[in-house]
Amino acid sequence: MSRDIHKKPFDEGTKAKLAIFRDYLREWLPVFIAKREIYWNTINIYDFFSGPGSDGFGNKGTPLIILEELNPHFDNIISKKLNVNLYLNEYDQSKYEALKKNVSPEKGDVRPYSIQIENLDFKISFKSKFPEMGNKGNANLLFLDQTGVKHINEEIFSKIINLKQTDFLFFISSSTIKRFAEHPSISRYIKLNSEDIEKTPYHKIHRLVLEYYKSLIPQNKEYYLASFSLKKNAGLYGLIFGSGHVLGIEKFLTTCWGIDKERGEANFDIDEDKIQKGQFDLFTNEVPKPKKVDLFEKELKEGILNKSLPSDKAIYLFTITNGFLPSHARKIIAQLIKENKIQKSSFNLSTKVCKSGALVTQVKPL
Ligand SMILES: C[S@@+](CC[C@H](N)C(=O)[O-])C[C@H]1O[C@@H](n2cnc3c(N)ncnc32)[C@H](O)[C@@H]1O
Repeated sequence: MSRDIHKKPFDEGTKAKLAIFRDYLREWLPVFIAKREIYWNTINIYDFFSGPGSDGFGNKGTPLIILEELNPHFDNIISKKLNVNLYLNEYDQSKYEALKKNVSPEKGDVRPYSIQIENLDFKISFKSKFPEMGNKGNANLLFLDQTGVKHINEEIFSKIINLKQTDFLFFISSSTIKRFAEHPSISRYIKLNSEDIEKTPYHKIHRLVLEYYKSLIPQNKEYYLASFSLKKNAGLYGLIFGSGHVLGIEKFLTTCWGIDKERGEANFDIDEDKIQKGQFDLFTNEVPKPKKVDLFEKELKEGILNKSLPSDKAIYLFTITNGFLPSHARKIIAQLIKENKIQKSSFNLSTKVCKSGALVTQVKPL
């Protein structure tokens, strides 16, 4: 079912996955390390499926990316007396040996953080690390770059989402679910309805996987998930990102929109919009919009005008939970003001509007 990705140079899909990981880390680290107010003193980064560190052809894998992205933060780690810990795990013995070599410091290099490297099966490694993740004052980032689908089952997922100050990013081979839906080795881990799988086109299967994980979140729990679909060779893979904080999800979406400027969701044309660069619509003389953007804008306008989205906070949350950025919503608000459909006001379409005690502004349709 799987191929060893470290025997050849990383393919384009793997490079796209690693680019998302790097960009997200670049957004995440300053939130936890460079902020003026510090609410946590221990920052843990876990890479449970580390691989050897690189593909051996000059392309860095997740462990070396983490080391590189920590470099600009040394001063802050020292001056704020932060306790930063990096945990790497790789099951394959020879990759583990290569990993140890690849991450060992050059002579004379001093790093203001600790690195622990283990050679365990994920289940054992997660179990041993789980208790410390829950410690007060900890912020955690978990990266779970599994091969296949089986490691992030319901039990692991629910343990992770119940941790405080914890963001996670996991990788999943969504096409394996489509191809082997009925196979016990898949249905044991991912309990998707086989009819739903059957009627979902292959290239959209990762969206269904995202919905499955969303369905595992208890109804009264504030938790956000987003995904990015990746075509890699003949397979369809995806990243699922999770955070208990709306700022976490906004940062992940910023990364996704940086890579997919049309839909913020995939490294290919997931909705088959077939938009050509520089193409104009014959009838409107405008650049054609992806279906997903068109639908979002329609629903947002309707929600504002029929008052089901009555405030800037409601609009902000609607935008983020639909996989869009505040800039998308601001454009629609400006348009509605210009068309005299809503009263002009200073709306706060940022994560700050979700803080307790923040001023929430009502939207007044005219
Ligand atoms: C997709 S690769 C990870 C790639 C790595 N993050 C990188 O950037 O190069 C998955 C890795 O998980 C390792 N692995 C497979 N089964 C595992 C298990 N049960 N526990 C821990 N690691 C495992 C594989 O040897 C492989 O190196």
